[in-house]
Amino acid sequence: MPEVEHPGDATLILGIGELTTNAPGTDGAVGPDDPTGVVRDAALLLDGGRVAWAGPESACAAGVERVLGRAPDRVVEVDGRAVVPGFVDSHTHLVFAGDRSAEFEARMAGRLYTAGGIRTTVAATRAASDDALRANLRRHVAEALAQGTTTLEVKSGYGLNVADEERSVRLAREVTEEVTFLGAHVVPTRSAGDAPADRDAYVDLVTGDMLAACAPHARWVDVFCEIGAFTPEQARRVLTAGAAAGLGVRVHANQLGPGQGVRLAVELGAASVDHCTYLSDDDVAALAGSWRDGEGTVATLLPGVEFSTRHPYPDARRLLDAGAVVAIASDCNPGSSYTSSMPLMVALAVREMGMTVAEAVWAATAGGARALRRDDVGHLGRGARADVVVLDAPSRTHLAYRPGVPLVHAVWRDGHQVVGRSGRTAPG
Ligand code: NIG
Ligand code: FE
Repeated sequence: MPEVEHPGDATLILGIGELTTNAPGTDGAVGPDDPTGVVRDAALLLDGGRVAWAGPESACAAGVERVLGRAPDRVVEVDGRAVVPGFVDSHTHLVFAGDRSAEFEARMAGRLYTAGGIRTTVAATRAASDDALRANLRRHVAEALAQGTTTLEVKSGYGLNVADEERSVRLAREVTEEVTFLGAHVVPTRSAGDAPADRDAYVDLVTGDMLAACAPHARWVDVFCEIGAFTPEQARRVLTAGAAAGLGVRVHANQLGPGQGVRLAVELGAASVDHCTYLSDDDVAALAGSWRDGEGTVATLLPGVEFSTRHPYPDARRLLDAGAVVAIASDCNPGSSYTSSMPLMVALAVREMGMTVAEAVWAATAGGARALRRDDVGHLGRGARADVVVLDAPSRTHLAYRPGVPLVHAVWRDGHQVVGRSGRTAPG
């Protein structure tokens, strides 16, 4: 494990070969047409857990004097490396027990992925103690952090009864404020004993006692709107009940085939609709047309799923060319995508989904922030949360150019260095 340390308040990072700010107005950014706000030969000042100043290193003495009025507490030299904002992984299912490697192996031998595999993880999750679930969750959060993920959404959905869903969101809330109630993941098997008689009865439970128990721990409600899971009518019931309980809306849809889930998500003002693998022209137009005054429905693409299920990848180019806002996320879960690696998502987005490197890096940072309706993360503009990833590479392009290579050199979260070696401390 990398060394962990907690420096003093103001940290100046010098020697940044390529700084991606996602804040095009930053001093020295290459041009207004670049939404990723790249600054070359840059410096970055972190203070009080926030970005205090970003710009060309040649202007940093004056910048630091202006915003800090004193020497920084420490100076870190990164020797020409690239820096990007911490990744915002807006879609994971990390409260679970067990693994489904046998299912993966069978799939690679020709079996199809179905929503039914979720029930295997439900059985293992229900049987696990709180401590075992907590340990597994924290292990995966640490694994993600080591790969540069500084903001992470976590869903429930492997409990599927009131007690185990409540436990799932409660444990998730211990590691992140971005908690999603996904009681409507699939209908549990009747052999579980406590399962309702049919799908509609299960939706009654999800929108009734289960929602009441889970809403206090959650920020979002989600539903798997897909053949084998929930119909559009059932999904509408779940989402409107969640919204009435004060939760924001997000949807799993159009993963395994075409359907009405994307349009339902847009109609209900969802922050994000996730998967979007099988889209009609109307779906694409609805996503693009959903944006008004900086708010709309993000299309969150999850290429780890296509990688692990051998489905065709979604066409990000088609969405971007239509004017939709695209995020990429890991969907880390033991069934359809057992990876927490946002660098891998960037590589897949570029290689398999038609995105440029700039678009993919934006989608993995600012895009994820849009999908969570957050403006404090996903960028390194002044005032942003000081979540910073230093890559062991001269440019962000290496995230796609060197797939599978551990390129994360150091990470700051909230202004604290949480991954990597300590830098030099400023003399005096
Ligand atoms: O996002 N699509 C639904 N849920 C998960 C899969 C969960 C599982 O297979 O365990 C997903 O891919
Ligand atoms: Fe998912």
